[in-house]
Amino acid sequence: MKLCLSAGILALFPLLLLGCAEASPESAPPAPAVHFTAIGSALPDLGPDEGAQFARGQALFRRIFTPEEGLGPLFNENSCNACHTDPADGGTGDQFMVRATALLPDGSCDTLEGEGQNIRQQATPLLRAHGILAEEIPERATAVTRINVPFLFGLGLVEAIPEETILSRVGDPGPHGELSGRAGRDPEGRLARFGRKADVATIFDFVEEAARLEMGLTTPLHPDERGPNRRPLPPGTDPAPNPEIQLEPLAQLTDFVRYLAPMARRVPGDPDAFELVDRGAELFREIGCAGCHVPFMDTGPHEVEALSRKRVHLYSDLLLHDMGPELAGVCTPAAGPAEWRTEMLMGLSEREVYLHDSRAGTLWEAIGYHGGEAAGTRARFQGLDRIEQEAVIRYLGTL
Ligand code: HEC
Ligand code: HEC
Repeated sequence: MKLCLSAGILALFPLLLLGCAEASPESAPPAPAVHFTAIGSALPDLGPDEGAQFARGQALFRRIFTPEEGLGPLFNENSCNACHTDPADGGTGDQFMVRATALLPDGSCDTLEGEGQNIRQQATPLLRAHGILAEEIPERATAVTRINVPFLFGLGLVEAIPEETILSRVGDPGPHGELSGRAGRDPEGRLARFGRKADVATIFDFVEEAARLEMGLTTPLHPDERGPNRRPLPPGTDPAPNPEIQLEPLAQLTDFVRYLAPMARRVPGDPDAFELVDRGAELFREIGCAGCHVPFMDTGPHEVEALSRKRVHLYSDLLLHDMGPELAGVCTPAAGPAEWRTEMLMGLSEREVYLHDSRAGTLWEAIGYHGGEAAGTRARFQGLDRIEQEAVIRYLGTL
């Protein structure tokens, strides 16, 4: 039996235009889903210099740092890919970043002077010898949130989306008149599209912060070591001279992340599912999911050809939305407790737990937690019949 795809599916899987796949006999178990590019590879059309930079960055991404080289004294893990590891370098892991903030009576956000930005879970042996095993949750905190490890695949394309494209959706009420997306801002007031709270403007800024806070490597931009809960470090516990990582390796790490290819869409293993997936894609738009999870955006002109004028299927508007009290957590000066950046759904088929703190174990549950601005969409999802709901879920399984 030859399997052919409907027109809608063909539009979603341009690579399949090459021909119809051979379907397996009915008695055989469904064929495994297919990825067209190996996960964790570089963008296919990088130039040789860019490819070399990717390789240098990848080596650093995998490198295990020791306390003598600057790891710690407080840190979360000793290498980038201790967390961003599954199913390839740049992937996810089961760690959480812990953040704490205080919402003041006047409604403004106290970030606890960076003390709560990333509460580091480990200490080097020299610091442990002083009885300091980790950082503590600041007493003034009114919220503590655990944030899981995101995929980094395709982030260079996301970074290359022009600001105007993102800003054009701010305040757009969407087809059902219920959305009010806001732009995230970093502490300098720049448009910020990275991080669950949309508070980091560029990949470089994120990498610099990760080196400093996840691994405890001081950088030329922040050369001072941050002691436990901002208290001074006991003498002799920080042997490496500051800064512990230079700008060049940070640039290489940044380019590694920037040049990671996005994950390809997944083709359902079961051929009968094609029609269902097609219907799911339609419903995803009709009931309003696509109002926030915008299926694609185009990058602007970019000096790196592989990032220039490309379409990226990110399934996000990169804006902050009020998701209702149940999902509320930490605040930032630009984002209230219940506001989260629309999570990108690219690579969703490779994720096993959902939402910022992994509280949802299934896609059904993840949709069920959508409140606030997304409550209307959730209600429309819940109003679908069982087969239509299944269609949406199957469609999500192909992203
Ligand atoms: C202890 C685990 C851990 C380590 C180690 C770690 N990260 Fe992350 N990373 C995270 C978490 C958790 C987030 C999500 C933070 C957020 O959303 O605010 C993240 C987010 C990111 C992002 C932004 C992703 C996005 O979608 O906005 C980048 C880029 C990044 N990390 C790069 C790195 C690099 C480079 C290193 C090594 C220098 C590194 N990370 C080390 C846990 C880790
Ligand atoms: C108002 C904007 C909005 C709408 C509408 C919306 N979402 Fe979301 N979605 C979000 C935000 C924000 C998150 C992240 C929330 C969090 O992590 O706490 C998210 C998270 C998700 C996740 C979890 C992704 C992950 O990797 O953790 C899935 C799956 C999802 N949405 C699917 C849907 C579906 C299906 C619909 C339509 C029924 C929908 N969303 C409608 C904003 C929206």
